[in-house]
Amino acid sequence: MSSVPGENFQLSEAQLGPGTVAIVTGAAEGLGKGFVECLLKKGAKGVCLVDINDRKGEETLRELTAKFGEDRVMFVKGDVTSDSDVEAAFSKTIEKFGHVNVMVNNAGLVNERQPEICYSVNTVGSTRGTYTAIKYMNPANGGNGGKIINIASEAGLMPISHIPVYCASKLAVVGFTKSLAADPQFAEQGITFGVLCPGLANTHILEKALYRDQESGVKQARELKATFGVMEISEVQDAFLRLLLDDSWSGKAMLATKREGIKSV
Ligand SMILES: NC(=O)c1ccc[n+]([C@@H]2O[C@H](COP(=O)([O-])OP(=O)(O)OC[C@H]3O[C@@H](n4cnc5c(N)ncnc54)[C@H](O)[C@@H]3O)[C@@H](O)[C@H]2O)c1
Repeated sequence: MSSVPGENFQLSEAQLGPGTVAIVTGAAEGLGKGFVECLLKKGAKGVCLVDINDRKGEETLRELTAKFGEDRVMFVKGDVTSDSDVEAAFSKTIEKFGHVNVMVNNAGLVNERQPEICYSVNTVGSTRGTYTAIKYMNPANGGNGGKIINIASEAGLMPISHIPVYCASKLAVVGFTKSLAADPQFAEQGITFGVLCPGLANTHILEKALYRDQESGVKQARELKATFGVMEISEVQDAFLRLLLDDSWSGKAMLATKREGIKSV
């Protein structure tokens, strides 16, 4: 038996269970939208997109409904920093699809000028989403287990001088997820975890980024792209599906980058 995660796994042959119902936060665009699409392609029964941006969220919902049917996808406007919004996303998803057994805490941003916002969305938002999912997945509360995937970043694993707050916010997500994965009570409840740390990917996140010094931040971001390369969303979808579907990745942190592909970290 291999000790390298994923060595014997055939992604093209893997499918989600027919009862898979997922919530993906920050799903109006970018990687979150990509995760929703690949969940639906892999056979999810239903997916709920949660995003603070309702204009973009509704637009994406229309696009996905046309492709996959309105009985498989829904959009809930919600802010991951709000307890009641996250609760509402769960109750509406359960109302439509019956349960939730995959939670993807993906919503995130780069804001070095207002650290409380950056930590609140990236770190507290993922934490809240995780604990709410655990509550609904716990068999003691009528759940039937599930998988929680948190989206951190390569930036959480290395120093990047122009985005220290973002790096710290993502490092916390790695430590949080690995710690829960080490807790045997969740395995007993059938709840498993994974944390994905993508390198730079081709989305609009950096165009919206707020740096302490905007001009030099933009310049350093451009240099990072040139040095490290930028993944297409399809490459991150591939990594995400492996983390979700391949049990040998369960409980692990996966780094996915343009230059090195995927590896356990
Ligand atoms: N794109 C990259 O290079 C990259 C690399 C590593 C990690 N990531 C992480 O991947 C995740 C997705 O990033 P992306 O590149 O797709 O960004 P994006 O800006 O394209 O999409 C992020 C989405 O999150 C939503 N969002 C922001 N704040 C929210 C809130 N409070 N509540 C609900 N939704 C909110 C936005 O409206 C947007 O739709 C983020 O956590 C990001 O940190 C991105």
